[in-house]
Amino acid sequence: MIIRKSGQEIETMARAGSVVAQTLSLLEEHIQPGITTGELDAIADEFIRSHGGEPTFKGYKGYPAATCLSPNSMVVHGIPGKTRLETGDILSVDVGVTLDDFVADSAWTFPVGEISADAQRLLDTCEAALYAGIEQARAGNSIGDISQAVQSVTEAAGFSVIRSLVGHGVGRSMHEDPQVPNFVSSYRGPELVEGMTIAIEPMITAGAADVYVHDDDWSISASDGSLSAHFEHTVAVTAAGPRILTDSGVLVP
Ligand code: MF3
Ligand code: CO
Repeated sequence: MIIRKSGQEIETMARAGSVVAQTLSLLEEHIQPGITTGELDAIADEFIRSHGGEPTFKGYKGYPAATCLSPNSMVVHGIPGKTRLETGDILSVDVGVTLDDFVADSAWTFPVGEISADAQRLLDTCEAALYAGIEQARAGNSIGDISQAVQSVTEAAGFSVIRSLVGHGVGRSMHEDPQVPNFVSSYRGPELVEGMTIAIEPMITAGAADVYVHDDDWSISASDGSLSAHFEHTVAVTAAGPRILTDSGVLVP
């Protein structure tokens, strides 16, 4: 069941989203060679709580941290800990904030110091795939239009979308209907309607699309060890077009 949000509910999600965006910016400043993922998580946890939010992920199905921090070939759900960042790494940072009962969810992959040209191209492609998907988040389109845009930008660059992980509706719960796949199938998914709020989140790798779950039962990595990226925004379908709720609230014209 897809839950459409009122204008007021979307404003609440945008306030949660603003805390998410500020948390990502703060972490970006601290992502330097030598810092551990556990230290980054503590910074995020403190920032979120001091801005009136709750870290949505903490306690979700027993997840132990405020953020998911996934280096290099890890795609998503990396548990922060003793991992120390090194120059040339990339780090995917996923943050969820609950504020006044609504959730916003966003992710970004950051370089650690200088990175290779190949790694930079992967990040640029994943970001471009996200924005191509957001561009399609318009009333009258279907979920499949988003999926198609994400997939075609990714594959045109020679990269693969991961198929076992998908975007999702988001609202009072972190995961609502509908699913938002990053690839096209014969099922185009539901039509997009004003008031829908969805997390669009391309997860891509430089190699093959297969992934595995680590022994911690959370972390998911590319099976062939290739570099992986994850960019995500929470987006509202509005009469004026797609509205990104996890940045300063700008409209995509
Ligand atoms: N953004 C992720 C998702 O949409 C966050 C989930 S991490 C979890 O699935 F720990 F909370 F599960
Ligand atoms: Co998400």
